[in-house]
Amino acid sequence: MAADTVTSRARVVSGMRPTGRLHLGHLVGALGNWVPLQEKYDCFYFVADWHALTSDFADTSQLTSYTYENVADWIGAGLDPEKSTFFIQSLVPEHAELYLMLSMVVPVPWLERVPTYKEQQETLKDKDLSSIGFLGYPLLQTADVAMYDARFVPVGEDQVAHLELAREVVRRFNNVFGGSAPGGDVLVEPQALLTTFGRLPGLDGDKKMSKSLGNTIHLSDSADEVRKKVMRMYTDPKRVRADIPGTVEGNPVFTYHDAFNANTAEVDDLKARYRAGKVGDVEVKTKLSLALNARLDPIRERRAAVLAKPDRLREILFEGSTRARRAAQGTMERVRDAMKISYK
Ligand code: TRP
Repeated sequence: MAADTVTSRARVVSGMRPTGRLHLGHLVGALGNWVPLQEKYDCFYFVADWHALTSDFADTSQLTSYTYENVADWIGAGLDPEKSTFFIQSLVPEHAELYLMLSMVVPVPWLERVPTYKEQQETLKDKDLSSIGFLGYPLLQTADVAMYDARFVPVGEDQVAHLELAREVVRRFNNVFGGSAPGGDVLVEPQALLTTFGRLPGLDGDKKMSKSLGNTIHLSDSADEVRKKVMRMYTDPKRVRADIPGTVEGNPVFTYHDAFNANTAEVDDLKARYRAGKVGDVEVKTKLSLALNARLDPIRERRAAVLAKPDRLREILFEGSTRARRAAQGTMERVRDAMKISYK
C-alpha cells in the first residue's frame, strides 16, 4: 500500500463552495476549526465547485479563479497540504456516481423537508432555486462525506440539518444494501463537529457576515482596507457620546475583539471603560483594527507566497484530487459490489 493510504487516524471531511473571496466569517467558522484538526485526524478538505452550481448555475465565469484563491486563503490560514489532502470535487467524478446511487433510495420528501431548502427559496428570491440540483444539494453533500468514510465533518450550525440528513441516508442505504457487506455496513455514518466560536456578526451588526449582505472583511483585504472598514463598524447605537456608558453584549466591535484580539487584558480593560463611559469608539476600533491586522498579516504573507507560484498551487490540488480519487474508487467498488451491479 502507498504510504499515504496507511493511516489509523479517523477521517475528517469538509468542503467549501467557491462562491467568492473568503472573509473573517470563514476564518472563525470554518478554517479556524479545520486547522487544528489536521494534527489529530486524516483530513480531506475540498472545494465544492459542483455545490456552487446549485444556486449559481448560469454564471460560472469566476468558479475556477475563486477555487484557486480560496485554497490560497486556506494555506494562508494555516491549512497544510503536507498534512491534509486538498482536492476539487469535480475532479473526483465518483461523487456524481455515489450521489446517483443514493438518489435511488432517498424519498424526495426527505430533501424537501430539509429546513434550508424552503428557507433559501424564500430568502434568495433573485435566484432560480427550482432545479433538481438545488433540491439534491444535501444529498450531494452526503455523497461527499460518505465517499471517504468520514467519521467527523466540521461545519457551522447552519449545516447541522444537512448532516442529519446524511446520517439518515447512510442508514437507509446500509439497510437496503448492507446485508452482503462484511460487518453489514457499506457506508460510514458521519457526525457533525460543530465549530467552537459559532457565527461572526457582520460589520453592520447583522447576525451574519456574508457576501450578499456586503458586510464583510476579506482575508485578502489590505491593512488599510481593514482599518477603514473597522472605523465604519456598527457599535452601540444608544451611545452618542464617549462619556455615556455603553453596552458590550451583542456589540459587534466587542464580539470581534473577543474573536481576534489575543491580548485579553486589553479587551477586558476596553470593556470595563466602555461600560463606564470612559473610552471613545475611536480607541476601541483602532485597537481592534491593530489586532485584526496582526492576525491577518501572516495570513496575507502566506497567501501571497502561494499565489506567486500558481503552478505549485495547481499541483497541490491535482495531486490531492488524484489521492482523493483513489480513495473514492475504492468506495465505489464496495458500493457496486454491495448493490450487485459490478461487472467483472
Ligand atoms: N454545504 C457546505 C456549506 O455551504 C459546503 C459543503 C459541500 C460541505 N459539501 C460538503 C461541507 C461536505 C462539509 C462536507 O458550507
